[in-house]
Amino acid sequence: MQQLFRRKPISDLLVEGDHSLKRVMGAGDLVMLAIGAVIGAGIFGAIGTAAAGQVGQNGEIIRYGAGPALVFSFILLGVACALAGLCYAELASMIPQAGSAYAYSYATLGELVAWIIGWDLILEYAVGNVAVAISWGDYFNTLLNGLNIFLPPWLTTGYRTALLSADPAVHGLLQTAPHVAGVPIVVHLPAFAVVMLITALLLQGAKESVRANNIMVVIKLLALGLFIAVGATHLNPANYRPFAPNGFTGIHHGAAIVFFAYIGFDAISTAAEETRNPQRNLPIGILGGLAICTLIYVVVGFVLTGMVPYKELAVADPLARALQLAGFERVGWIVALGAAVSMSAVLLVFQYGQPRIFFAMARDGLLPQWAARVHPRTKIPSVTTLFTGVFVAAWSLIGDAAETYDLTNIGTLFAFMLVSIGVLVLRYTEPARPRPFRVPFVWAVSLLSSAGCLFIMKGLPYQAWERFGYWLALGLVLYLTYGYRHSRLRARAIEAGTR
Ligand code: ALA
Repeated sequence: MQQLFRRKPISDLLVEGDHSLKRVMGAGDLVMLAIGAVIGAGIFGAIGTAAAGQVGQNGEIIRYGAGPALVFSFILLGVACALAGLCYAELASMIPQAGSAYAYSYATLGELVAWIIGWDLILEYAVGNVAVAISWGDYFNTLLNGLNIFLPPWLTTGYRTALLSADPAVHGLLQTAPHVAGVPIVVHLPAFAVVMLITALLLQGAKESVRANNIMVVIKLLALGLFIAVGATHLNPANYRPFAPNGFTGIHHGAAIVFFAYIGFDAISTAAEETRNPQRNLPIGILGGLAICTLIYVVVGFVLTGMVPYKELAVADPLARALQLAGFERVGWIVALGAAVSMSAVLLVFQYGQPRIFFAMARDGLLPQWAARVHPRTKIPSVTTLFTGVFVAAWSLIGDAAETYDLTNIGTLFAFMLVSIGVLVLRYTEPARPRPFRVPFVWAVSLLSSAGCLFIMKGLPYQAWERFGYWLALGLVLYLTYGYRHSRLRARAIEAGTR
């Protein structure tokens, strides 16, 4: 019992051991990394469902759309994420260590909660990337079609997507696709390929990855800038009426979907060990990146819902579609290209973050030691980088994007909640520890942030809660059968007790 709540001393976290990583990043790199992680499938894809809502196979309403009031969903999320971002910033600057929320909660709420968070973060990073990879693959396919290149549908559709689809043509792939040993081969090859390519890039080392990210961030900002500039010439005031067709319920449900668009600004805290002067640079990176993204989202949401009636937006590529409907075919294609590039950047940052969390957990003994290995030349956790790549690529090959969005959202919101509570706990358990960045009005911020996250989680469907419950239960079993026994902290406590 005592071990479950044993906390890792922060002084331990600050000591760099043999397993430490190379410090190569500054504040600018972090802001770029944040934008790289944040702007992606959410704003280019999920925004459409958030505006239009979602209808089930039998015509039942699964979620209400926000309509043009989507801008309020973005503002609501921006505020909630800013509160959580402040909490992340305090902890990240105090505990500049790979592992993000996992490391913070180990120091604040104890080993069991830390494990739960680490396990939970797999939903945010690895499972989130499955959704992004599939969305990337869909955009890639659209781009190919624009060039009159057509891949067979059984090579561009995941097995789960075919299985769940209400569209007879897609569902029918299970019969029409080639079979091997009686199993239909229905796979999303582009999604698989992009994850493997990005993994290969990451294995080259951190500095090289950051450079590639910076280029992609510039391209995504140009694509969204182009969308705004062209779309703004085609606003129709009639599209803003009614402004909030489903009232606050629509804004709430819309926020729960499009929360995906905000995920990632916290990812840069996983780069704490590779950041120069993290005490100063991390808060700038997190809050700066978040502010820029919120502003862009509000403007994009406003322009998008002004261009076409919001009900037209229930498609996989709403930005490109809106441009096409407005008569800008070619601009639509270019924005689709920008979307694919944007999602590559998201994939890169998440594929970067996940191995570092595995690495931190293995270093603490909660995962097997092979996961804590650092490559002698590149100084990156190469084993976990490769492992994450194969895991995400394999799931992307057969998975369904929609199924994974909700799971990612609920897991991430839960992590945000625990981080927000953790910051308050640490103020009382370690009041004297230096805090290069302090959350102002900590009680209010911490409680409002936790309540905000819980509120957004409430906008998610029941199935997401159920799956999340199973995921946590599986994690608990793994902890009790492996992590609990192999914990470094436990070994040290036992050693100290016998001395
Ligand atoms: N925020 C990231 C995206 O929208 C996960 O793709």
